[in-house]
Amino acid sequence: MTEKQLKELLADLTFEEKLGELQQITNTYFGENGIVTGSDARHILNEDEVNLAGSVINVVGPAKIREIQEKHIKNHPHHIPMMFMFDIIHGFATIFPIPLAQSCSFEPDLVEAIARETAREASVSGLHVTFSPMVDICRDARWGRVMESYGEDPYLTSKMGVAAVKGYQGDDLSKEGTLAACVKHFAAYGLVEGGREYGVVDTSERFLRQYYLPAYKAGCDAGSALIMSAFTANAGVPADADKHLMSDILRDEWGYEGAHITDYGSTRTMKSHGVPETDAQVAKLALEAQVDIEMCLYCYHNGLPELLEKGEITMEQIDRAVMRVLQLKNKLGLFENPYRYTDAQKSDELKNNPEALALAQDAVSRSSVLLKNEDKLLPLNANDNKKIAFIGPYVEEPDMFGGWSIRHQYKIDLKNIHTAINERYPNGNFTFNEGCMLLGEDEPMFKFNPRRAKSVANYVEHDAAARKEKIAKAVEDARNADVVVMCIGEHTLMGGELTSRTHIEIPLIQKELFDAVEEVNDNIVVVLFNHRPLDISDISEKAKAVIVAWFPGIMAADGITDMLFGEKAPTGRLTMCFPHTVGQCPIYYANFPTSHSPVTEDFFVTGYIDCPLTPLYTFGEGMTYTEFEYGEIKLSKETLSEGETLTASVDITNVGDRDGVETVQLYIRDPYAAVSRPLKELKGFKKVAVKKGETVNVEFTLTTEDLKFYNVELDYICEPGEIQVFIGKDSAVKEHADFQVI
Ligand code: GLC
Repeated sequence: MTEKQLKELLADLTFEEKLGELQQITNTYFGENGIVTGSDARHILNEDEVNLAGSVINVVGPAKIREIQEKHIKNHPHHIPMMFMFDIIHGFATIFPIPLAQSCSFEPDLVEAIARETAREASVSGLHVTFSPMVDICRDARWGRVMESYGEDPYLTSKMGVAAVKGYQGDDLSKEGTLAACVKHFAAYGLVEGGREYGVVDTSERFLRQYYLPAYKAGCDAGSALIMSAFTANAGVPADADKHLMSDILRDEWGYEGAHITDYGSTRTMKSHGVPETDAQVAKLALEAQVDIEMCLYCYHNGLPELLEKGEITMEQIDRAVMRVLQLKNKLGLFENPYRYTDAQKSDELKNNPEALALAQDAVSRSSVLLKNEDKLLPLNANDNKKIAFIGPYVEEPDMFGGWSIRHQYKIDLKNIHTAINERYPNGNFTFNEGCMLLGEDEPMFKFNPRRAKSVANYVEHDAAARKEKIAKAVEDARNADVVVMCIGEHTLMGGELTSRTHIEIPLIQKELFDAVEEVNDNIVVVLFNHRPLDISDISEKAKAVIVAWFPGIMAADGITDMLFGEKAPTGRLTMCFPHTVGQCPIYYANFPTSHSPVTEDFFVTGYIDCPLTPLYTFGEGMTYTEFEYGEIKLSKETLSEGETLTASVDITNVGDRDGVETVQLYIRDPYAAVSRPLKELKGFKKVAVKKGETVNVEFTLTTEDLKFYNVELDYICEPGEIQVFIGKDSAVKEHADFQVI
């Protein structure tokens, strides 16, 4: 439809129809064959109102979506199609590594390719919108939702968020294989205090703009069709009531024209923040903050009619929101084709689509991070007849999907690491032993939330004798082995929403297994499965090799096998620091000098008396199966003015014994400025292949745009003065070359 036609349609809608467009309902309104049942006691909409709803969440299945859409169009007075939305966070039928793992690839192209494959699978299944990418900046491993993010750094997160939006949406949302993206959670949800869900976040305007907003803006500028508000209240103002954020910045400053959708009931939960008391007050605050779609719960439905009657809101405000919903449906091509590309047969064929599975397997080594490899224990050699004991729950457990996974849309038989290794190396001198269950009943989370024990009932060891016996058997395998590979980590349900933890070690039962094995064999390789940086200080000290695999998804077993035996090398780099202990959280590389920081050094003397100030493993850190040497940094000029470009370059030599890939990172530091600036800030990265013995030159460019910051007056400026340029293999790099901004 043309804009003119949309306006005519809007003008023709009744108030009830307009209200409907702003209402998202849940799949639970629809029974079998998509018939409106409204069975759930929480439902307050009657059938007529359901027939006016603008969108629905959590309906899955092409046949059901088609049935519901058919009835909806028929029953709607203006036959306006509904939008079908779903949380497709890291894959639909093909489950890819969790987003935090994907970010560790330092490959936006990989993130884009994964999003594209995901959109292909989801769009033929009838879905129109995914609530992804999440671009909250995350620096506290206690928060379970760090797994959905691209880590702690604004620059990297921005690049990954843009890649995801492009992958999902392509260049035309009305085309086949596309999905509308939804950048979230606006804004700064990742700053939740103590990693506790849903609370207050408190950031200054300066830091909000400098560090926490850029990734959302990058996603909006990349064309994300929607943006989702956060549950949180920044400085006490709930996001859905935050006119400064949602109108002044998002709409007026950024000129964003996409649709703003709330989080699930985040309008109503403003009452829990203790700001509005009634639905009408919620509705007024939200409409004034330009909330368009209310995701479930019904404050608009309940509150807007009386507000309009009293003249407390205007029809123009409602029309503005409804227009953005109609424009979104138009972008999706729904008016011309309400079923878009829904195709049950194609959807079925894509459920084990070889290209996507190959991409998922390749993504495992590209996003896994090798943190340690003493004595070059890795890669293993299946033919040297060394006895290798594979021990740990994840040797046998095939579900390595992680939180926010869609588990019912794939068709292949899930493989565990045991099977994958036997398939690949049938003659290997191997033993396999799970050693213990994933969780013991002594796991801290069970003390505070017994219900959780029910949700993971099949994974909890309650029998003390069995626990002891299983560990003893595994120890026997370890005792007789040359090398032990331990596959251990969090349970797949220990990450995602409402999974904040104060203990961030691996489950106690598995640590008991590790310690018992370590008693009898010190050639230990650990493959870690985790949603967040964990406290692996003891494991890291005792194991000779550590690979952080995160949750690698549907092809985990084959991907891990690729790495363990060297068919593919791990090439990921950390995008969140690993702390020595949870007491260091939040911890991040781009921290600030302190009043006692020695000016000459990067690290500072202030801090703890019982723990280093630096992390155990830092941002950008990671190894591979070869080594690289860096030459000195060369700058193309000694000064830089506005409008000019400076090139910083360095030679990288592969001094190891196999071809490899290195992620070269460029950081800057502005040592003296109008406000205190971070010790380092990532401003460039390149993942380069270097053949053994070869040297390649890697170049980056900088302009004054890269150096801007918000000064005391909140002007976004680049100041004259010294800038230090670091190029290295991680954020701990010390060598720098300097230039002057003039
Ligand atoms: C959840 C999450 C959000 C998700 C939405 C829909 O509460 O906060 O990320 O997209 O609700 O499931």
